[in-house]
Amino acid sequence: MTDFKVKNIELAEKGTLQIDYAESRMPVLREIRRNFEKHRPLPLQGIRIGACLHVTKETAVLTRTLKAGGAEVALCGSNPLSTQDEVAAAIARSGVNVYAWRGETTDEYYWCVNKVIDTKPMITLDDGADLVSTIHGSRTEAIGGVKGGTEETTTGVIRLRAMERDGALRYPIIAVNDAYSKYLFDNRYGTGQSTIDGILRATNTLLAGKRFVVCGYGWCGRGLALRARGMGANVIVTEGQPVESA
Ligand SMILES: NC(=O)c1ccc[n+]([C@@H]2O[C@H](COP(=O)([O-])OP(=O)(O)OC[C@H]3O[C@@H](n4cnc5c(N)ncnc54)[C@H](O)[C@@H]3O)[C@@H](O)[C@H]2O)c1
Repeated sequence: MTDFKVKNIELAEKGTLQIDYAESRMPVLREIRRNFEKHRPLPLQGIRIGACLHVTKETAVLTRTLKAGGAEVALCGSNPLSTQDEVAAAIARSGVNVYAWRGETTDEYYWCVNKVIDTKPMITLDDGADLVSTIHGSRTEAIGGVKGGTEETTTGVIRLRAMERDGALRYPIIAVNDAYSKYLFDNRYGTGQSTIDGILRATNTLLAGKRFVVCGYGWCGRGLALRARGMGANVIVTEGQPVESA
């Protein structure tokens, strides 16, 4: 029985259409899913995966793939503002324990994180390190059952490296952000585009001729600055480490 808490399960059909569209643009996961369906790889059979990721159509393609490999997946959102309610409903209908809705309060957010931990994950997938830090904070009884995990983003990796330095990190974690295909692609191009998309949706303003300040010239900042300049803004960068980040 799938356990879940989403805004409205009736939205599932709409969410499934979005997930199908995303999957049509994600050939690598699509190929992995086909492979999993054919060979049912032993390492994933019955493995419980706890994920705290953006609940979007792209994450749904990932949970779909993991399930095809035989894993059991529980998911909560890593940011209450990025959750797509129709996608959350479709994920629940696909048999994933999902706890996420757009606009959760802080208490509700951690309720969802704890629901994922209740499923006794053996692998954690994190985006910002909230799942790992909750396990290492108020839910230490779960640590023994976790074999390892992944962390997606720069901020999460910074938090985990600090825990590692203090000897506090109790299981191994792959820093996805260190992969070339992450920071050279997602951070530089993906965040640049989605940040501008967010600004335009919120303000519906013309960027051409505006003064556009980018704080930090790291991988995200570079992509964003380039895109804003391409739209005609007058881009100003502030950077604390101007030599290293040049
Ligand atoms: N939402 C998303 O899709 C997404 C994706 C990737 C990264 N991120 C987040 O975006 C942020 C940036 O990630 P990144 O990969 O570009 O990191 P990065 O480490 O490559 O770059 C950060 C830059 O900011 C500079 N900086 C730090 N403090 C500063 C200050 N006070 N003033 C000016 N500059 C300062 C640093 O010197 C560095 O050059 C992180 O919080 C990361 O987690 C979000």
